[in-house]
Amino acid sequence: MPDQDSTDAGLQAIPPDTHNLADYERHASQVIAPEAWAYLQGGAADELTLAANARAWQSMPLMPRVLRRTAGGHTRTELFGRPMAHPLMIAPVAYQQLAHPEGEFASALAAAAQEAGYVLSTQSSMRLEDVADAVALDPLRGPLWMQIYIQPDREFTRLLVKRAEAAGYEAIVVTVDAPTSGVRDRERRAGFRLPAHISAVNLHGMRAPDPAALAPEQSALFDDLLHHAPTWDDIAWLRGITRLPIVLKGVLHPDDARLAREVGARGVIVSNHGGRTLDTLVTTASALPRVVEAVGADMPVLVDGGIRRGTDVLKALALGAHAVLIGRPAVHALATAGALGVAHCIRLLRDELEAAMALTGCATLADIGPGLIDRP
Ligand code: FNR
Ligand code: LAC
Repeated sequence: MPDQDSTDAGLQAIPPDTHNLADYERHASQVIAPEAWAYLQGGAADELTLAANARAWQSMPLMPRVLRRTAGGHTRTELFGRPMAHPLMIAPVAYQQLAHPEGEFASALAAAAQEAGYVLSTQSSMRLEDVADAVALDPLRGPLWMQIYIQPDREFTRLLVKRAEAAGYEAIVVTVDAPTSGVRDRERRAGFRLPAHISAVNLHGMRAPDPAALAPEQSALFDDLLHHAPTWDDIAWLRGITRLPIVLKGVLHPDDARLAREVGARGVIVSNHGGRTLDTLVTTASALPRVVEAVGADMPVLVDGGIRRGTDVLKALALGAHAVLIGRPAVHALATAGALGVAHCIRLLRDELEAAMALTGCATLADIGPGLIDRP
C-alpha cells in the first residue's frame, strides 16, 4: 500500500507533471505496491488483448472536416431518457481501496463532480449504500449504475439488486463475460492476495455452495463451478425481479447482442473486460460496429477497453457507441491523487473530446459519424 492514511489522503496533490491519462499511469505505477499493481494493471496470459485494445483505437486514422460551424456545440447526450453532460463513465472496478483508502467513495464523488456516469462493482470494497449516499443529492451528477455478477446464490443476488434499487442506483449492469476468472499470469507471479482489511463487503453473509464431490476424471470447472454459472434464462429472471433497466456488459458477438435485446436487456456494453478474461479476444474497437449494426440504432451500445484519449472516445462514438467507460485510468488517478485525481482525469478526457470534436468539425455528438474514420 502507498504510504497514506485516511487523514492525509484528502490532501494529496496532483503532481505538477500531469497532462494526460498516461501521466497518471506513470505516477500510479510509482505509488501502488507491486502486488496490487499486478492485479489492477494486469491482463490475462500474455496480455495481448490488453495491449491490442488501446492500439486498435490509436491506429484508426481520423478524416476531419473543416470550416463547419461548431460554435455553440456541446457534448450532451442521454441514456434511458436521462440527460448526461457528456458520454464518459467510470467502469466497474473491484476493490478500489487497493488504490486509495477512500476507494469507491472517492471515485464516485469525483465522477459526480465531473458529471460523469459511475458504475459500482459487485466487488466494491465499500458498501453500495454508502457510495450512493455520497452522491445521491448532487443534482448535476451523471448516472449511477450498479454492476452485478449473478452469484451462485440467486436469492442473495436478488437481494443485492433490491438493495441497489433502494439505494438509488439507476440501472443494473450484468457482467456476462467472466463465468470463471481469467488466467492472470502477472497476478500469479506477483503472488497477489487481497490484504485483510479489503474485501467484497457487499457480498458478506453470502452462502457459498458446497463443493461438489468430484470423481478423479471430473473437472472442477465443468462439473462444479459452471453448474452455478448464469445463462440467458437468468437474464430473463433478473428482468422479472427489477424495474431498473438491465445492461449486459461483456458482449462481443453480434448474435449475443441480438439475444440480449430479445431477453429484454435495454443496453449492452461491448467489452472484453479490459483484456483480463481470455487473451487474444477480439478488440472492442473491432467488435463495436458489428454489435451496433446487430441491435440497431434504438438500443444503446456502450464500449470500454483501452480508451485513453479524447480521440479514442471520438472514434468509439463514430463507430456507434452511445457512451464510453474507462477502467484503469480512473484507478491510476485515484492512486495518484484521490478524488481530486479522478475528477481531473475525467476533466482531461472531456476537454480532449471537445478539442477532437472541434478539430474534426463536429458541434454535437450527432455529428460524429463513421465518415470521420479513414478507410482507404
Ligand atoms: C475490472 N473490470 C471489472 N468489470 C466488472 O464488470 N466487474 C468488476 O468487478 C471488474 N473489476 C475490475 C478490476 C480491475 C482492476 C480492472 C482493471 C478491471 C473490467 C472493467 O469494468 C472494464 O471493462 C475494463 O477495465 C475496461 O478496460 P480499461 O479501460 O481498463 O482498458
Ligand atoms: C476483475 C474482476 C473482479 O476483473 O472482474 O478483477
